[in-house]
Amino acid sequence: MKLCRRAQELAAYRGTVGFVPTMGALHEGHLSLVRACRSACDTTVVSIFVNPTQFNDPKDLENYPRTEEADLALLEEQGVDFVFAPAVDEIYPTPDTRVFDFGGLDRVMEGEHRPGHFNGVGQVVSRLFEIVRPNRAFFGEKDFQQLAIIRHMTAQLGLPIEIVGCPIVRDVDGLARSSRNTLLSPEHRAAAPRIYAVLAEAAESLRGKVSIPEAKRIIAQRIDAEPLLRTEYIEIASADSLQPAADWGQRLGELRCFAAVHAGPVRLIDNVPF
Ligand code: PAF
Repeated sequence: MKLCRRAQELAAYRGTVGFVPTMGALHEGHLSLVRACRSACDTTVVSIFVNPTQFNDPKDLENYPRTEEADLALLEEQGVDFVFAPAVDEIYPTPDTRVFDFGGLDRVMEGEHRPGHFNGVGQVVSRLFEIVRPNRAFFGEKDFQQLAIIRHMTAQLGLPIEIVGCPIVRDVDGLARSSRNTLLSPEHRAAAPRIYAVLAEAAESLRGKVSIPEAKRIIAQRIDAEPLLRTEYIEIASADSLQPAADWGQRLGELRCFAAVHAGPVRLIDNVPF
């Protein structure tokens, strides 16, 4: 495994190149992306870069977990070929002032609640694509909206990169794996599996039985029945266009239910097919 700090050190790839962009603090979710990448590509490149431009809250950026040494050991164990772990000025030699048009995909949910977040994701991912030049790139469905936006951006920029979405990896108690889980207190960690439990149960029991606004209200209420959790939003939206559904009869294709929930100071997101 070669550790590269500078873009020009990424050289001498073999065959098809797969890329897994990360912000480090690696967990089983990331490792599932690495395994998918290794089984589909000849060369696997993983980046570790905590991208400042996608944090709309400076405190969140400051508190984001950083565990580079442990991350490198895990990636070595997985048989990764290249790790790209640059400093900020390698990615942004000058401030990135580009503004992306994601065709409205960024106007709902995370985009609405975290202004500027997806523009920052677009900046860093397009820059990483330019440096790494992969044939395929792998992203988790936990960040379902991010995946849709990256697909859109890749098509819009005409990049010859296949974007591969990979299923959410959950702990045994159902909590979606996330780097932020390490920031949870033991009490909040114990409360957090309720998010998925409520979403999964609601997907079974509420669809078509109550109106969509009522379903969203019931889901939020069931999550918030745990005093350590506070729902920021629940949305039921098209899995393709991310357009929020107003009633079940709308022709939006497959629907998903999306949640953002605060567990003390930690903000968690999750989604399920609905
Ligand atoms: O999903 C993430 O970890 C980040 O948003 C990404 C795609 C690595 C860009 O910084």
